[in-house]
Parts: sequence; C-alpha cells; structure tokens
Amino acid sequence: MEELLNQLYEQNVLTKEEIIYFLQHLTPDLTKRLFRLAEETRKKHYDENVFLRGLIEFSNFCKQDCMYCGLRRSNSNVERYRLSEEEILECAAEGYHLGYRSFVLQSGEDFRFTEDLMIQIVRSLKLRFPDAAITLSIGERSEAFFRALFAAGTDRYLLRHETASRSLYESLHPGMSYGNRMNCLHTLREIGYQVGTGFMVGLPGQTYSHLAEDLLFLKEFHPEMIGIGPFIPHSATPLKDAVGGTVQDTLVMIAMARLLVPDALMPATTAMGTLDPIGREKALSAGANVVMPILSPLKVRKKYALYENKICMGDEPSHCRNCIELRIAASGYKIELSRGDHCNFTRTT
Ligand code: 5AD
Repeated sequence: MEELLNQLYEQNVLTKEEIIYFLQHLTPDLTKRLFRLAEETRKKHYDENVFLRGLIEFSNFCKQDCMYCGLRRSNSNVERYRLSEEEILECAAEGYHLGYRSFVLQSGEDFRFTEDLMIQIVRSLKLRFPDAAITLSIGERSEAFFRALFAAGTDRYLLRHETASRSLYESLHPGMSYGNRMNCLHTLREIGYQVGTGFMVGLPGQTYSHLAEDLLFLKEFHPEMIGIGPFIPHSATPLKDAVGGTVQDTLVMIAMARLLVPDALMPATTAMGTLDPIGREKALSAGANVVMPILSPLKVRKKYALYENKICMGDEPSHCRNCIELRIAASGYKIELSRGDHCNFTRTT
C-alpha cells in the first residue's frame, strides 16, 4: 500500500488492478495521507487558490430520463421553468457586481434553447462582460452546435461522463448512448473548449472496478475540469430506494482524481455540501479547488432539484458569495475571482 501511494503521488499513475487493490485496502491512516498528498499536488499547480464560478440554472426542462435525476422528463411533479435571455443577463450582472468573472450556464437538455438562441445569449454575455469566462453545461448537442457556440465565444463545456462503464451507463440512461457521450467529449476537446467531465459515486451497482474505470478514463482523457459528487437518491425517481454515495467515498475519489490528473480544476460540489454541512470544505482539503455558488433567481432555485434538500435554496447571491468566502478563508485558502482558466490553457482560435 505504501508503494502504491508513493507511486500515485510521484508518478501519477496506477493500473486498474492497483486502483482496485488500493481501494480495497485503504485504512483510515492511509486515507488521511492520501488527502494530504492530493492537497499538496493541488498546491503545486494552483497554490492556495480556490476559484469561484457563478452558476446560473436557466432551465429545468429536460428531454432525457436519467434514472437518478430529479429533473428527468418522467417526473411530472416538477414545476418547469425557463429564464428569459434578460433574466440570464440580470443574474450574470448581479454576479459580475459581486466580483464573479466566470459563469456556468446550466440546464436540462432543453431544445427550446436552440443554437441561435444560445449564440445570442453567449454573445450578449461576452459583449457585456468581456473579461468573464462562459461555460455551458447543457448536455449532448450536435458537433455543429458545439462549433457554433465556441465560435460565439463560449470558453468551456461541462459534460460529465457519469460512469465510464458502458453497461452501467446504459442501464441508468434509457434511450441514450455511451458512445455518443464519449463522442461529444472528444468533439468538444477537438474544437478547443476547456472540457469538464466527471462521475457520481455510489450509483446502484457501482463497484470498485467501475470506479477504477472512471479514474482511468479521467487519466486518459485528461480533462481540464473534473466534477465528482455523491449520488443522492431523489424520491420521485426509480432510484428512490437506493443507498446513494457517501461523503467519505467521494473524498477518496476526489483525492485519487487529483493525483492521477494533477493539473485539473476540480469543484467541491454542491452535492457534497448537501450531504455534510462542511462537505465542500472537506473536498477542498482532499484536492478540490473550485466552488460554484448558485446565482439563479431565488424564485426558481427550488425547482432545479437534481436531488432533494439541496443547500443554499433561500440565499441571495450576495449572501452566497459572503458565506463561501468565509468558508474558504476559514479553511485556509484564498478566494480567486479571475476567469480561472486551466493552468496550461491558451485559446488559439
Ligand atoms: N445526485 C447527485 N448528482 C446528480 N446529478 C444528477 N442527478 C443527481 C443526483 N440525484 C449530477 C449528474 C449531472 C450533474 C449536473 O448532476 O452527474 O451530470
């Protein structure tokens, strides 16, 4: 185990068998050391900086039916909403005043937001806030769409792979294809986006072998951003009685992802903060270095429930900004409000 941990820290590689063995034999003491080494590795690339991104959840309509997600189309209990272009711009303006220079526009797979409309939104944002980075997190689209939105000025794209096991992927995503998801990720990379991917921990049927595949996929794809969060069962989905992921298991995955992909930007996810009041702080001390406070208008927040009991539902953006700042400072980190590009990134087109 000592050797495996050293190899992970010094060479940033492990084989699938080694990862499985490592996960099976982790002791509390080794876990602590794993977290410490992950933090050290993070510091080598990003110092003590924690990057903030303002999250704008602009539509909860979704044409997909993912088994785990509260926004799946079969969930008729959801009150669906769409923000107008003006409302999105207002959210961003409020965020901009609070100091944010990085915005993530997230939605379900809502095709009312056509290519033309998305181009218009991104162009308006770029025109008003030229020094801010724009990230889209709106699911699978065509290559032409991805190209057009990149040309319009979008900087980054988040599309979690969710699980790197084809069979597990297909059992959780009726009507969707693992191959298409992978193609989207490769296309985004080829176009020149900074690409984010990632997975959930604690999915039903997920084994150490699956988690090892997730980590090795990250290693091979080398995304600029990696989002890892616990799966939290939602009562209006087919997985309502599933056990779900734990904070501890997710922390181990975050730390291992940090050691396998040392230069990634990794959020301490809202799902971590939901399971544990200091879940995000724990994620920071296991190698994460991004926090994504929600900027969406209060009136729609509760409606954007991928899972239940999500934190910060009633908080004004200014409150979130202060709360996060205090938490980050109290954990010994430094808030970083710049665009927060990946450390090796330069846009070429
Ligand atoms: N629990 C935790 N994470 C979830 N996501 C969707 N539903 C859930 C859930 N019930 C995650 C997916 C998606 C991201 C936006 O949120 O990984 O990619």
